[in-house]
Amino acid sequence: MKYRGFHCRWLVVFALGSTQLLSSSIKAQDAFRDPTKPLDVRVNDLLSKLTLEEKIGFIHSASKFSTAGVPRLGVPPLWMSDGPHGVREEIGPDSWNPAGRTDDFATAMPVGICLAATWDPEMARLSGLTIGQEALVRGKNIMLGPGVNIMRTPLNGRNFEYLGEDPYLASRMAVGFIEGEQSQGVASCVKHYAGNDQETKRNSIDVQMDDRTLHEIYLPPFKAAIKEAKAWSVMGAYNLFRGVHCCENPFLINQLLKHDWGFQGLVMSDWGGVHSTAGAVNGGLDLEMGTNGRYERNFLANPYIDGLKKGLFSQKALDDKVARVLRVLIATHALDTKPTGSINTRQHQTNARTIAEEGIVLLKNATSLLPLDSGQVHSIAVIGSDANTKFAYGGQSSGIKAFYEVPALEGILRRLGDKATVTYSPGYAIPRRQWRPSAQPRPATPSSDAIRLMDQAVEAAKRADVAIVVAGLNHDYDTEGSDRPDMKLPAGQDELIRRVAAANPKTVVVLVSGSPIELSRWISAVPSVLEAWYGGSEGGNAVARVLFGDVNPSGKLPCTFPIRDEDTPTSHFQSYPGANGIEKYSEGLLVGYRWYDTKNIDPQFPFGFGLSYTRFAYDRLSVKGEDLPTELSFDCSNAGNRDGAEVVQIYVHPVHPKVMRPDQELKAFKKVALIPNEKEAVVLPVEPSWFTYYDPAKEGWVLEPGDYEIRVGSSSRDIRLRTVVHVKQSGVYPD
Ligand code: BGC
Repeated sequence: MKYRGFHCRWLVVFALGSTQLLSSSIKAQDAFRDPTKPLDVRVNDLLSKLTLEEKIGFIHSASKFSTAGVPRLGVPPLWMSDGPHGVREEIGPDSWNPAGRTDDFATAMPVGICLAATWDPEMARLSGLTIGQEALVRGKNIMLGPGVNIMRTPLNGRNFEYLGEDPYLASRMAVGFIEGEQSQGVASCVKHYAGNDQETKRNSIDVQMDDRTLHEIYLPPFKAAIKEAKAWSVMGAYNLFRGVHCCENPFLINQLLKHDWGFQGLVMSDWGGVHSTAGAVNGGLDLEMGTNGRYERNFLANPYIDGLKKGLFSQKALDDKVARVLRVLIATHALDTKPTGSINTRQHQTNARTIAEEGIVLLKNATSLLPLDSGQVHSIAVIGSDANTKFAYGGQSSGIKAFYEVPALEGILRRLGDKATVTYSPGYAIPRRQWRPSAQPRPATPSSDAIRLMDQAVEAAKRADVAIVVAGLNHDYDTEGSDRPDMKLPAGQDELIRRVAAANPKTVVVLVSGSPIELSRWISAVPSVLEAWYGGSEGGNAVARVLFGDVNPSGKLPCTFPIRDEDTPTSHFQSYPGANGIEKYSEGLLVGYRWYDTKNIDPQFPFGFGLSYTRFAYDRLSVKGEDLPTELSFDCSNAGNRDGAEVVQIYVHPVHPKVMRPDQELKAFKKVALIPNEKEAVVLPVEPSWFTYYDPAKEGWVLEPGDYEIRVGSSSRDIRLRTVVHVKQSGVYPD
C-alpha cells in the first residue's frame, strides 16, 4: 500500500504541544525514548524500528510546516515555523491562508538588519533566546532563521531580514543568535544556502561566482553557523548555483556543508525549492518542504519510494537523511520533556526594546539638536505615515502577528505624556502595491491629495518647536518576493522633508527602512537623522527613548548607504538582476564597503558609521607578536559628558598584496560601554585570518608575508589609530 502522507490526528495532538499520545505498540524501555542515552544511540534505535513508509514520512512535508510523525511509536512530527523575527502565526495546513487562531501571537523582535546594526553578538543571543522561548510555548522544534545572505545590492527585497554586507559581522551575529536560540532546545535553521541575494527571479536565477568570492564573502556566515554555533538545520535556497538548484546541489550540500564542514544536522529545502527526486536524493537534501500538489506527491514522498523499490537509490542514503531528521527531532526534546518556554513576558518586551534601541543609528546631528529636552520642547509636529504604521506583520514569511506593536507616534506620545503638545500629520501616503517596476512607473507629479497632505504637514511643522518626520519604506518595498525598483524614498517624501526642514530648522528625520535609502536630495538641509529600521513590538518606544536621550544611540550601519544606485558595484557591472537567467557576480569580492573603499567612491554614510550623543577618544595602539602579530591593544575612552557605547572596529589593509585584495576588511569589533571620562584598555587576540585570503587552487587560506596596516576606527571611514605590522610567516590554513 502506498504511503498516504498527511496525518491529521497528529496535527491536532501536537499542535496542542502534547507528546504523550500512547498506543499499545509503545514500549517505555525503547532506547530512543531514554534521554540518558547518547543522541546517536537514540537515533539509531528509532531508525531501526521504522518502516520504509514511516521513514519517508520524516523527509517531506505533511503540512505547510511539519513532517509526519509515527503514531504507532508515539513519535510526533517535526514542527517548524518562520522565522528570524519571532514565531510566525499559524498557517492552514494546505494553503497559505492564516489558520485563524487566537493563540498564535508572538513578540515581534527587531528585524535582522536592525539586529546587525547593534554590532553586538550579545544582542543577537538575546534575540535568539527570546524567540527560542516563545517557540517552545508555540510547540516548534525548528525556527526558520536566521537569514544570513549577504547584502550584495541595496535593492534586495529581503535585506531587512539579513545581517548586512560584511561576512565577518554577519557571522558573529549569526553565531550569537543561533547559540541563544538553541540554548532553549529549539533548532535554528540558517538560510538561504546559498547565493540567494535577490528576490527578482529567485526561483530560476542561476548564480555564478568564482570560488574565492564564494569562500570569502558568501559562505562565512553559513560556515560559522555550522562550525561554531552548531546550527541544527540549514535551508537550501530557491536559486540555482552554477547551473544546479541549491536544494539539489551536491557541491554546496554534500561537498561543502556535509563533508568539508562536518554538518550532522538536516538540510531542508525552501518551500517548493525541489525540482526532482534524483536531484534531491543525490544532491544531499534531507527534507523537502512545500508541496507540488498533495504532500504524498512530493519528490521525496511516493516518487522516492518508487525509485527505492526500483533500486535507483540506496537504502543507506535514505537512512542518512532520516537519521539527520531524527537527530534534530530528538535534540529538540520531541521525545522527552521539553524545557518550559514563555511568551510575551515583560522580559521579552524589554529584550525587544533593548535590541531596537541598540540598533538605532544616529546618522547626523549637526547642531546637536538631539537629544531633545522634554523640559524645553513644548510642541512637536510628528509627520509621516510611517510614524503611525505597524510593520511587524509585513514582509511575508518573516512577518509576525504581534501581541502589540508601538509605532513611533505612540512611542513619542507615551514618552511625553502631557509635557508637550504633539500634533500628527501623515504628510504622505505610500500607495499599497506589490512592486512591478516596469509596470508601475512613479508618478512624475504629485496628486492633489499628496499636495494637500504635504501642505498640512508643513503648516504643522511651522507652528511647532520641533518637527519629527518619520520617513522611509514599508513592507511593499522591503519584502520577500520582489526587490525594490530603486533606492529612492517613495510617495514624494524627499520633497516633503525639504519643505518641512525649510519651515522648521529644528527638523529631525527618523528613517524606517530595512535597506539603504538615497538621502542626497535633502540630507544637507536637515540637522538630525536617525535610522530606526523596523524595530518590532517595541520599535516606537525605542525611537522615543533615543530622541529624548533616555538612551544614547550606539548602533552602527551594517551596510553602506551609497549616494546613488549608480555608485553600487552591481550597477557598475550591470550584474543585477541578471541576464539570460544568469546572475554573474562580476564584482567578485568587491561587495559593500570593499567596493567603495577600493574604488575610492564616497558613500553617503559608510559601513560601520554611527554617531553618539557623547564623543569617544582612541589612543595608544600597540601590537604584540614577532613573526605574526598575536595581540592588539588600545585605549578607548568616553571624552564627552554622557554615558555611551562605542563599537570599536578593526580593519586590515594589505599594503602591497601580490593578489587582488579589497582595500580593507573588517576583522574584529567590540562594543564598549563607557561612562564619561572612563577608559577601557581594549585587548583583542590577532588571528592569522586577519591576513589571509582564500586560494581556490590550494583549497585553503593563504598567509602571504608582507606589510599590513591595522586600522582601528569608529567606522570604516573614521580610522583613529593605525599601525603597519610586518608579517614574516607564510602558510596555507585549511578551510
Ligand atoms: C521563504 C523562506 C521561508 C519559507 C516558509 C519561503 O518562501 O523563502 O524563508 O522560511 O518560505 O515560509
